[in-house]
Amino acid sequence: MPRSVLVIGGGGREHAIVRQLARSSQRPVVYAAPGNPGTAADARNLALDLTDAPAVVRFCQNEGIELVIIGPEDPLIDGLADHLRHGGISVFGPGAMGARLEGDKEFAKEVLQSAGVPTPRYHAFSTSESALGHLDTMDLPVVVKACGAAQGKGVAVCATRDEAEAFIRECLDDQRFGRSGLRILLEECIFGPELSVLIVTDGQDYCLLAPSRDHKRIGEGDTGPNTGGMGAFAPVELSAATQAEIDARVVLPVLAELRRRDIPYRGVLYAGIMLTANGPQVLEFNCRFGDPETQVVLPLLRGDLLDLCAATAAGELGSYLQEFPVGEGDPVDWTGAGLSEWRRHCVVVVGAADGYPGAYLTGRPIEVPADRDDAWIVHAGTRETEGGLVTVGGRVLGAVGLAPRLESARELAYSLLAATHFEGLTYRRDIAQGKD
Ligand code: GLY
Repeated sequence: MPRSVLVIGGGGREHAIVRQLARSSQRPVVYAAPGNPGTAADARNLALDLTDAPAVVRFCQNEGIELVIIGPEDPLIDGLADHLRHGGISVFGPGAMGARLEGDKEFAKEVLQSAGVPTPRYHAFSTSESALGHLDTMDLPVVVKACGAAQGKGVAVCATRDEAEAFIRECLDDQRFGRSGLRILLEECIFGPELSVLIVTDGQDYCLLAPSRDHKRIGEGDTGPNTGGMGAFAPVELSAATQAEIDARVVLPVLAELRRRDIPYRGVLYAGIMLTANGPQVLEFNCRFGDPETQVVLPLLRGDLLDLCAATAAGELGSYLQEFPVGEGDPVDWTGAGLSEWRRHCVVVVGAADGYPGAYLTGRPIEVPADRDDAWIVHAGTRETEGGLVTVGGRVLGAVGLAPRLESARELAYSLLAATHFEGLTYRRDIAQGKD
């Protein structure tokens, strides 16, 4: 197994990955680039230029890095995994061809349609004139999506024509999302609880991590604009029929379609699913672990994250999974159920800066309580300065609670957040409440 691992990224997801790796019985040497003040507790943070792929490869070769886990979508979409693999480094994360599933939503829709996976109807446009013409033929509400990656902010669910027109113009005319918004999708709006399904695959074999639910809107009761995610919990309880349907109608066909197109995939494929009255439908794919879903899914792993990622990167996931037979009480229709703990629950509540996802202040001093075994802080938009810890991002941190009951996990997360202080700290009070 790899003795030295590099985690690319510096958000809450990467802190969660580093924290889990640091708990590996194999005690790997962990590096994070750039990392954050949270990862610094368990890893050596590095200032690598992630846009200079040859330099990242040289660093890994010179330092004897045996495994790279790539957290965020941008380096994956830009092909960092391909560069590393060509340089002989084992990587958890797809190459550019696979990452296109997140980098190009129109491409993702084509893949879904060829695979016969249920997904909302859509049309794609490059000019506001043609998009507005089509908008008049659609029922409201309507979903407008920037085709490129936009940190979770390129999607608007529009209740009125005016809202939809404004978002279409922001994308196509004002270029709010730069190149990512120069092509858009207009999509029918579907309804139901959302579900995040993290499919770990080496292209042949796969397993599903514990199902989780993100809370994407900024406001309680799922109101206001979309964010990167304001909190999550896992596992989400699913009927056996829904588990089987997700496997048969989503996971198996999409993995078969990737193989049919000769798209290699070693990493995690995140299916954003809506559980509608007509069954599960895929809203989007991401080519990486979810954020904040990772914060609640990894603490439920029965196995060692290092082994899981190394086996996936090496194309040996099938033999690794044999070590995790389904146990008593595990959901038998959830492929890879033996890999996760189902008798514990995990909740993360994101503490954001006032104003997020719009403009927000930074540089506010932060006080965080000490971590416990069952409740801890995950850093995201924080920085250590001479004067102490300060805010630098919109999603500043996450408070995580882990307990045998969902309610207790929730209480632990909220108690920790209540003991956390920075000017403008804002968070939703309804994460994991009512379970949707
Ligand atoms: N939580 C949403 C995402 O990771 O894209």
